Amino acid sequence: MSLIEDLVYPTKQIIENPYPLYKDLQTTAPYVHVSDKGEFLITRPEDVTFVAMHPEIFSNLLGPVTPGMAERFRVPPDKINDPAIPTPWPTPFSDGEDHDLKRSLLQSCVRNEKIVEYEPMIRRVVNEIIDDVIKVGRCEFKQQFARRIPAKVMLEVIGVPPEDADELAISLSGGSAGGQGIRHASAEERKVNDERVENVRSYFRKLMQDRFAKPQGDFISTLLQDKMARDGKLDLEIMITEVILLYGASFGNTVDAMAQTLYHLITHPQTMARVQADPTLIPKAIEESMRVETPVQWVGRRVLADTEIAGVKIPKESFCLVMYGAANRDESKFENAEVFDIDRPRINSHMAWGYGMHRCLGAPLARQENRICFEEMFRRLTNFRLAPGWQEVRATGSSAHRDLADLQIEFDPK
Ligand code: HEM
Repeated sequence: MSLIEDLVYPTKQIIENPYPLYKDLQTTAPYVHVSDKGEFLITRPEDVTFVAMHPEIFSNLLGPVTPGMAERFRVPPDKINDPAIPTPWPTPFSDGEDHDLKRSLLQSCVRNEKIVEYEPMIRRVVNEIIDDVIKVGRCEFKQQFARRIPAKVMLEVIGVPPEDADELAISLSGGSAGGQGIRHASAEERKVNDERVENVRSYFRKLMQDRFAKPQGDFISTLLQDKMARDGKLDLEIMITEVILLYGASFGNTVDAMAQTLYHLITHPQTMARVQADPTLIPKAIEESMRVETPVQWVGRRVLADTEIAGVKIPKESFCLVMYGAANRDESKFENAEVFDIDRPRINSHMAWGYGMHRCLGAPLARQENRICFEEMFRRLTNFRLAPGWQEVRATGSSAHRDLADLQIEFDPK
């Protein structure tokens, strides 16, 4: 297998450290590389930007060409290529006007006034977690700390009653209802996931029917009211998919970003000391950490027309890997790109939130959850250190995500 095959179907070595390969791809002409199976890898910032800015060529309509996606989103066979609006494909897997209409319905959960409104709730959630771990003085940060934040916050935002939240979070955390990883999932993995998703769908079907009958001011109620007011019909199954996907999108990446930021700070003690002394630096630490170790390394795009990038011809119906993780390490854009440096100029100019019309919808919420997590941790805890014997291991799986397998830490109460 070639190195590029190793990335698309990743080896342990690539999962642990893809960066030498990225550098090779970015500095060796031709600058767009093709795998043996015809997948095109876009790694330079200018090429990634070009793809993101031409959605009419580089499409998100991956469902019709990706095994298992129609079943997962419960798209009936005769609707797979349905040109009607709305299509049955959810926001991240739709294009053009259809995408804009769907995305605008989701916006109500991340409007500025909502983000402000969530703040006390997020602080409460983080402090409950700190109460649980403060006396013990150690935890596995991803499972026992970070994952509990978006799990609780997003379900509260959506409007899931607290008594259902824990069980539903477990069912939901088996993976999102879609994602780039599905392209490489086995039939058995897809079957297990499909059963799980069906249970979750039944839960949301009932909850949405209840909330439509009796709105409560939460996201689900607003979503259904907005949908009805705008389109005169609910399209309930499509709305269920949207909500499940929103939760899925809100979850893993947020946990990975929190764990990676903490790891960067612990391993850079001088920066840690500055950030603890001056919490206004927390957002810089979060953004810079996301640049250096980008949680979503690549997203997929389907090529709708013959095209060309950097002199390389890309035929219609090819699959492109748009590599935000590689672009964020490109030396021509970020000097000493491998260095975690919160004083870097234009610190927010990375692409970890994506780029173009599909850029992350939940970025304001993810930023706020991350900020409050570190503000409260640094207010109540100190002397953060890696647990003795803990070693950095990257989670195995898809090269589309960059995440620590775990993060064992110790700390003291302040
Ligand atoms: C640190 C945490 C997060 C990271 C790193 C992240 C990253 C991303 C990326 C890279 C994309 C794809 C952009 C593209 O295709 O160009 C995306 C899309 C998306 N994200 Fe996030 N995300 C995070 C948190 C969240 C949260 C908290 C939510 C929900 C509240 C969310 C909702 C979405 C949605 C709905 C999309 C699809 C947008 C579209 O297709 O129009 N994300 N995210």
